Amino acid sequence: MNTSKLTFNVISDERGRLVSLENNKNIPFAIERIYYLYDSNTEQDRGMHAHRKLKQLLICMSGSCEIEIDDASERRLYKLDSPSEGLFIDGVIWREIKFLTEETVLVVLADREYDEEDYIRDYEEFLKIKKNEIS
Ligand code: TYD
Repeated sequence: MNTSKLTFNVISDERGRLVSLENNKNIPFAIERIYYLYDSNTEQDRGMHAHRKLKQLLICMSGSCEIEIDDASERRLYKLDSPSEGLFIDGVIWREIKFLTEETVLVVLADREYDEEDYIRDYEEFLKIKKNEIS
């Protein structure tokens, strides 16, 4: 599965902690877009789609969330609750995001501009595309 948790180097001193992310160095792509989700509704999941080409890195800046990842053969649940780690998602992967607290802030770094054409929002279509990938 093209999904992995990255642990960032944290620079700590008595003033607090700092994390630095650099294109194609400690993150595996060049950032083209950043968006973030906040004022999170713990009753309603987000995501529920896959992307055709997009690479993304999800970082939970505060609070906590669960990301359920599905590559059509396996489902995995990742918990994100620290700004010192990120979940890298590459390839056609279905994702569902559950916010565990209302103050959760999830930042998403992406390697492409927003493009609705890149979305697969229908689960049956997602399964069909994955089947064709394998055969
Ligand atoms: P969507 O990607 O469906 O949200 P999520 O996956 O977090 O549940 O996006 C919600 C709306 O915001 C949708 O109308 C598209 C729009 N949008 C943008 O205009 N630009 C962006 O970069 C993103 C991620 C979404």
